[in-house]
Amino acid sequence: MAASLKEQLDDLLAKLNPGGVFGIDIGSHSIKVCEVSGSPGKFRVDKFGTFVLSEAAIIEDQFQKPSEIVEGILEAMKRAGIKSKVACIGLHGPSTMTKRLNVPEGTKEEIEDHIMWEAEQYITFGADESQIGFHIIGENEGGGKDALVAAARTDLIESFSNILNDAKINPKIIDLNVLALSNIFEEVYADDLEKYSQGTILIDYGAQSLKIVVYKRNGPIFTKELPIGGSLVTEEIQRQMGVSYEEAEDLKVTTDENGNLPQEILNIFNAQVDQAVAEIRKNINFYVTQGSSEKVDFCFVTGGASLAPGLIDKLSASTGLEVQRLDTFSTIKVDERKADGGLEQLAAVSSVVIGLAMRKVN
Ligand SMILES: Nc1ncnc2c1ncn2[C@@H]1O[C@H](COP(=O)(O)OP(=O)(O)OP(=O)(O)O)[C@@H](O)[C@H]1O
Ligand SMILES: [Mg+2]
Repeated sequence: MAASLKEQLDDLLAKLNPGGVFGIDIGSHSIKVCEVSGSPGKFRVDKFGTFVLSEAAIIEDQFQKPSEIVEGILEAMKRAGIKSKVACIGLHGPSTMTKRLNVPEGTKEEIEDHIMWEAEQYITFGADESQIGFHIIGENEGGGKDALVAAARTDLIESFSNILNDAKINPKIIDLNVLALSNIFEEVYADDLEKYSQGTILIDYGAQSLKIVVYKRNGPIFTKELPIGGSLVTEEIQRQMGVSYEEAEDLKVTTDENGNLPQEILNIFNAQVDQAVAEIRKNINFYVTQGSSEKVDFCFVTGGASLAPGLIDKLSASTGLEVQRLDTFSTIKVDERKADGGLEQLAAVSSVVIGLAMRKVN
């Protein structure tokens, strides 16, 4: 029997949008939504939208202003032109974790049993109150397999689900932002992955947190979130100059005709960047020390706060790593008209949500 029109349409939509999902990244500074089409090696960002949240709408992983967040998601979708209601959502914060485990050979069920059996030891926020997923990365050199385990506390998942429920969106895939970061990195640098797989640090420097992924042996081996972000600069501008949150956010990105920031703003940026670099260095010290068995050589940075002046040079001087921006649009296509603030700005704020949008429904 011939396929019905609806089936044909669904089939076509699935081809255009392989995961059948759009990505939602609920950041503390702004919500991002994105829909991609294509397949590995030839992705295109078809739809992208943002909504900038008001001050303190989200603090850590708590939704302080839930109705604003629901409206923000719907408004960002409207701006993007996203009609789909099926999403891949990225979680983050202290109620999430990842762990690379060496597991014995076995069936999927046996491996799952093994991971669950050990879960209590490595899920610090309580294995019983968590949802746990895993994915096999490959063979382990020392025998067995390498598995990447991801976990999130059930109450965190519920708070995201409630928000999405109110926005009438079905969160078909629940992911972690750090894994979306690793996902976009693998896609953008697919041709050089063998080199970067020797050891690369990925950094997403957002408004309230700085996410670190140590990528080695074909996947993340360590992930961490530090409670520092670009909002520290905003707060300092507010404090020193006696302006509102919105005015301070504006001052951060308003340059003169030569593209320079005023000296007093630059001074605030410099102090915060120095502090962030010192914190990063402290947390990755083990991986950048000469002679370390887990040595890494490369570093890619993204996230809005990574656009802070001087960050790349200071980070590279402090760590000795070859540091560069995660250049999302070197491989992924996008219509430049979507980038009001330029492609570099768009790449910085959109990399995580593109990584989410590329996920496939299994
Ligand atoms: N050109 C720029 N220079 C410096 N800082 C910038 C620039 N553009 C944006 N920022 C800062 O980047 C931050 C927003 O980045 P991003 O969108 O990655 O954060 P988020 O995802 O909302 O936050 P988080 O991931 O921490 O929850 C804000 O602090 C903003 O002021
Ligand atoms: Mg973010």
